[in-house]
Amino acid sequence: MNLAEVERLRGATPGCASVIHFNHAGASLPSQATLDAILGQLQREALGGPMEAADQNIQARARAAAAALLNTVPEAMAFASSGSAAWGMAFNALGPWQSGDRILIGRHEWGGNLACIARAVGAGAQLEVIPCDKSGAVSVTALEQMIDPRVKLIALTWLPANSGLINPAEAIGAVARQHGIPYFIDAGQALGQLPCDVEALNCDVLKGAGRKFLRGPRGTALLYIRPAFMQRLEPTQLDVLSAPWDGEGFALRNDARRFETSEVSVALLAGLANALEECNGLGLSVIRKRIDSLSRYVRERLKTIPGLTLHTLGPADHQSGLIAFTLRGWGSVELKLRLAQSGINIGANGVAYTPLDMQARGLESIARIAVSYLNTEEEIEVLLGSLRELAGDGGV
Ligand SMILES: Cc1ncc(COP(=O)(O)O)c(C=O)c1O
Repeated sequence: MNLAEVERLRGATPGCASVIHFNHAGASLPSQATLDAILGQLQREALGGPMEAADQNIQARARAAAAALLNTVPEAMAFASSGSAAWGMAFNALGPWQSGDRILIGRHEWGGNLACIARAVGAGAQLEVIPCDKSGAVSVTALEQMIDPRVKLIALTWLPANSGLINPAEAIGAVARQHGIPYFIDAGQALGQLPCDVEALNCDVLKGAGRKFLRGPRGTALLYIRPAFMQRLEPTQLDVLSAPWDGEGFALRNDARRFETSEVSVALLAGLANALEECNGLGLSVIRKRIDSLSRYVRERLKTIPGLTLHTLGPADHQSGLIAFTLRGWGSVELKLRLAQSGINIGANGVAYTPLDMQARGLESIARIAVSYLNTEEEIEVLLGSLRELAGDGGV
């Protein structure tokens, strides 16, 4: 991606003119075209009648673009209102759990997923954390040694929310497939940041939010279910779309839409369709390359700020665009709020989002810079300048 292309993309993104945004891992900035797609649909609904303005083509476009992003078929894709809702729906459809069933997870699992798993543990399942390798990534060797017939699920958060770690999702998928164990991937931070091929990953379920690196609207998420795995999942919630009356009974759909509801925000799906098409148009390899080079530069420069500690995990030469750090004298939330006063957005995470990993590393919170292809070298200089100044300040 050359600088002219970056300028073009920034010019097409109104937020780039009003804020210095490094919180793409929380939610990114939508393009004007994505905004127009949402507003246009709301306008059509208001003027023509909301039901009457429903356009099946919008959903079909969104589904086709989501399938193209993940290298699958549209029938394998469902939409949900959040990443956690998508993961929870698929997980809750897995049971019933028996005493002695084993669930293996990475240490970096998202807190919301752990909350769902706690229910299965209440029903007698056993939760076990796969040990990490020396770099802090999930160890594939350790996983292999844990496999036995009682393992009923392997769950991985691919790119954890609290570091730049990229877990070895493909190698873990190879183990899961070899042993026929269901494999769930939380790709919340991966979608729109890294190439993501569900065939290569060998996963049965994968989900991610629309609002993060995909630059779609809030309140949207993608849920992939491997078609051959569909029958294993009995949704806990049904309606006229997921299980319509067929004259004799209620026939559960045979595609991923068994997890959808009949009522959806068509406007948000219109925005998501546009964001997905934009992302596919740019190409994930190109996006990954730019995020990688910008975030490498940010990490190197952050190392020169006194009192700033990077909280990286995983191999130094294989990191995502998420950069976790703390600054001496500053709480992470205070730092985030202070930077916001200067028009700079970053993120701040406490323990609850990634409780096992935060506790294992003795961290109470981290501040997080998340780099997108939209960010420029100039923005990085402003951010670094502010951090350097605040480091000198001694904080609150
Ligand atoms: C890895 C990961 N999983 C899950 C989530 C939760 O997604 P949502 O807020 O859409 O439920 C996040 C949000 O930051 C995340 O980073």
